[in-house]
Amino acid sequence: MKPTIRPAEYRRRRAALMSHMTPGSVAVVPAATVRLRNRDTEYPFRQDSDFLYLTGFVEPDAVLVLAPGRDHGEVILFCREREPRAELYDGERLGPERAVDALGVDDAFPVADLDEILPGMLEGRERIYMTLGEYPDFDNKVLHWVNSIRAREAGGAVPPGEFVALKHLLHEQRLYKSAAEIRIMREAARITCLAHERAMAACRPGMTELALEAELLHEFMRHGARSPAYPSIVGGGANACVLHYTDNRAVLRKQDLVLIDAGCEFEHYAADVTRTFPVGGEFGRAQQAVYEIVLAANEAAIAACRPGIPFMAPHDAAVRVMVEGLVSLKLLRGDVDGLIEAGEYRRFCPHNTSHWLGSDVHDVGDYRVGGASRQLEPGMVLTIEPGIYLPAAEGVPARFRNLGVRIEDDVLITRDGNEVLTEAAPKAVGDVVKAMGRRRRG
Ligand code: GLY
Ligand code: MN
Ligand code: MN
Repeated sequence: MKPTIRPAEYRRRRAALMSHMTPGSVAVVPAATVRLRNRDTEYPFRQDSDFLYLTGFVEPDAVLVLAPGRDHGEVILFCREREPRAELYDGERLGPERAVDALGVDDAFPVADLDEILPGMLEGRERIYMTLGEYPDFDNKVLHWVNSIRAREAGGAVPPGEFVALKHLLHEQRLYKSAAEIRIMREAARITCLAHERAMAACRPGMTELALEAELLHEFMRHGARSPAYPSIVGGGANACVLHYTDNRAVLRKQDLVLIDAGCEFEHYAADVTRTFPVGGEFGRAQQAVYEIVLAANEAAIAACRPGIPFMAPHDAAVRVMVEGLVSLKLLRGDVDGLIEAGEYRRFCPHNTSHWLGSDVHDVGDYRVGGASRQLEPGMVLTIEPGIYLPAAEGVPARFRNLGVRIEDDVLITRDGNEVLTEAAPKAVGDVVKAMGRRRRG
């Protein structure tokens, strides 16, 4: 059965959020807006992750209001009314009449009535929690509603006096994945691993990066993932050294490595996986030497993932392995501790090793608490993605030039350690070579 989030879980999430809101406050959470790509063609719509987390509702033009203690209902949704002509073009709408049952909210109104109804819900509440800064037009609307209450102050209306960023409460909640979320993330990871394996088997010198990207996308979609979680990076040779390379139009050359950073979004949860492999099916010596260092760094960082250790500990473990490796290859010279301290390795290892993963690929949640790296806890999901990038630059011998290697896995912190969600994507040298040979032989 397809893993999914049940209505009761959305109810629990809203209740948990409301239990942390201060008495006499209200939260206002807008849906994402439809954006134009060019002229009248729209970007594919993707619901806002905060709104989705609290509602499970995937339509645009909606607003969720949480008003703890409100007599006529604490959870109110504004959404588009049903409209046969619009539905003929864009498909069925839920409509306010059906929203109460379908989403388990207390009440629902047409979004067209926001201006009329919402000020009354804000009036008398001291504090408004909202997603400040993400939707400037919506922020302005809230200010406008508050001003409309202020205008009636002389008549006894009480406007809210405080705006607070909702993220401090909500993003803390999103950081800990539930059992249902974990099941979905396992599926996103499973599909993504199949796609990487397929790319390895399909890769041939002379094909374009785009053709390889097409293999990934086809695998995502045929398993029910509507889209990638972020633009896929398929970079051959020097392109692997461009960290966010997404042009993907170059031709792959036999003597190069190709770096693929791609993950699907399944049921609004992301996987984020990188594998690097030789276009021609066999690693060259210099390529393999760098690859083995990154692999060892990936494994050392994963070994460090367990409850109670600081978020930065896996990164520190990865950096140490990579610096030792770069010294052994004479790409860096000096004492390992000194090189780490001076940060000189950043020339070749410029990015961090981890970020939170969830509904957003760079998911929400604080990385530091009380000025220190926060401790990992069960239910958190993070990436482990060490990388070494060797440009055609002074001090880099010819055999190492234009070589970029990143190996990225998705790791769930469990009670007694971790679970690597993306273990099925080949990464040991022998497994990669075997996966690449699969179609050739078969
Ligand atoms: N794919 C983006 C990242 O790895 O962070
Ligand atoms: Mn990635
Ligand atoms: Mn990542």
